Amino acid sequence: MAQLVVENLKMYYHTRNGQVRAVDDISFTLEAGRALGVVGESGCGKSSLGLTLLRLLPSNGRVVGGSVRLGSDELMAMEEEAFRKGVRWKRLAMVFQGAMNALNPVLTVGSQIAEAILAHEKATKEEAVERAKKLLEMVGINPARYSHYPHEFSGGMKQRAVIAMALACNPEVVIADEPTTALDVMVQAQVLKAISDLRQRLGLSMILVSHDLSVVAQTCDDVAVMYAGKIVEYGPVEEVLVNPKHPYTQGLTQAFPDIRAERAPIVSIPGTPPNLLSPPSGCRFHPRCPLADARCAAEEPVLEEKGAPGHRVACHYVSKSGEVAEVKFA
Ligand SMILES: Nc1ncnc2c1ncn2[C@@H]1O[C@H](COP(=O)(O)OP(=O)(O)O)[C@@H](O)[C@H]1O
Ligand SMILES: [Mg+2]
Repeated sequence: MAQLVVENLKMYYHTRNGQVRAVDDISFTLEAGRALGVVGESGCGKSSLGLTLLRLLPSNGRVVGGSVRLGSDELMAMEEEAFRKGVRWKRLAMVFQGAMNALNPVLTVGSQIAEAILAHEKATKEEAVERAKKLLEMVGINPARYSHYPHEFSGGMKQRAVIAMALACNPEVVIADEPTTALDVMVQAQVLKAISDLRQRLGLSMILVSHDLSVVAQTCDDVAVMYAGKIVEYGPVEEVLVNPKHPYTQGLTQAFPDIRAERAPIVSIPGTPPNLLSPPSGCRFHPRCPLADARCAAEEPVLEEKGAPGHRVACHYVSKSGEVAEVKFA
């Protein structure tokens, strides 16, 4: 098992109106066996980051800088042929956002998993069927369900089936993009449990993309908070989500009510993430930040360790020793 090291990664979409800077100078390290949560509002570049790592970009998406190393291999410089043969699905796999709705309705679920195996590995039909059944079992689905059609599966089972499909070639790292978003909470808990079991059993490393902080708190070791194509805060889950320092993270955590706490008004961050064709100068969050001043509009804050070990924050208002200004959103 290898670690995944992402350094200064930039991926822009080229459009008629200019470049959309969806992944803009992202760096992090995913140690083998760890789970990293990526959180942030919709439109902040979370899915784009996953697609960039897997090199599955639409035709207008281009990696314009940076590196991604898996073990000793530099993934961004590899020939497509070598990447396809040796990395994509085999070492690095992805469960796409909305994938469970993309299962083919006229084919059985099991045959679609077997097909994924046959597409990437030298196996006989029989071997692929056997392995597909094992994979179903691994995600908590009775292998007798192999020959059932997608419409005979519940939402949670469909989601677990697409996770099984991503595991078809025994990858080291799995990127799961919003794997529980379309599910109700009870089913969400089942899917999260299946993911946790798999991680333990297979020693998988994982990147779990979600806009739901409680999902990340339950499943991940570390968290990266993305805003407008950048990581604004990064660190161990218990540090970042319990003791958020960046005003954006503070806003996100305040927007999640604690059912055991006394009733408090629901807080939201006014405004929306910026258009990444022309993101704001300085700190990209400054137009929405109650603390912002002239410096925030002029100078981009660096993502650096502040206070606790491994807790990195990009904000002028967080001191070197990690003291924060508390932010109140309306
Ligand atoms: N093919 C594309 N061409 C141009 N812009 C795109 C394309 N795909 C996504 N974007 C833009 O990139 C930004 C990031 O999108 P996305 O990665 O889907 O964010 P998230 O997953 O966090 O919701 C958004 O502003 C989105 O509109
Ligand atoms: Mg997305």
